[in-house]
Amino acid sequence: MVLDLIKNRQSVRKYSEKHIPDEDLKKILEAGRLAPSWMNVQAWKFVLVKSQENKDLLCELSLGQNQVKTADALIVVIADLDAWEKAGITNFQNPALNPALQGENGLLIRTMEQVIYPISYMMLTAESLKIRSCIIGAMGNEITGINQEIYAKVKKELNMNDKQILSTIISLGYEIEPSKPNKTRKDFDEVVGLERIGNKF
Ligand SMILES: Cc1cc2nc3c(=O)[nH]c(=O)nc-3n(C[C@H](O)[C@H](O)[C@H](O)COP(=O)(O)O)c2cc1C
Repeated sequence: MVLDLIKNRQSVRKYSEKHIPDEDLKKILEAGRLAPSWMNVQAWKFVLVKSQENKDLLCELSLGQNQVKTADALIVVIADLDAWEKAGITNFQNPALNPALQGENGLLIRTMEQVIYPISYMMLTAESLKIRSCIIGAMGNEITGINQEIYAKVKKELNMNDKQILSTIISLGYEIEPSKPNKTRKDFDEVVGLERIGNKF
């Protein structure tokens, strides 16, 4: 059951030396490819990183977070601002249908919003294959404005263009020792309301 995977998943930042088979990496990426998006615009690219050079570079980009360089593989999730135009969405005159009419920030937010779904799908597919993962969002990119020199290098290495934003890195690997998830979450009633915030379901 998907809920069991969700309950069992946790961010794992230390990995064993065991390699993930390519067929499993393909399954994870396929789950991302099949994710839903606004009018099916699929405003994303995924770059699989296995080389130590690129892992080290991405580690530097993400404030030296160790799991980036020690993961067996990384999936770099890229939000593609150009996808809307390519899909013909920019022909719509209604901002509720066309994020390009929501201003520069609106377009950025809506594009970043799209990649959340494939990220979630990929993490859960990894979990179903007993592959552990961690989302990495603390890094240099157009949004944070930090580490711009390294970011320019990353963009070049990964063959990214000016309209493509590195949104997230997913680190992947097998855990060293089985661990129980420690789900520190707000209570059900704090986040769920029946008809209105605060009413118990
Ligand atoms: C958008 C986003 C960005 C994150 N960035 C980082 C990060 O840069 N480094 C890190 O170690 N964990 C990062 N995390 C993982 C969270 O810290 C983690 O999901 C949260 O503490 C809950 O723990 P759990 O995943 O084990 O349930 C990020 C998670 C999300 C959703």
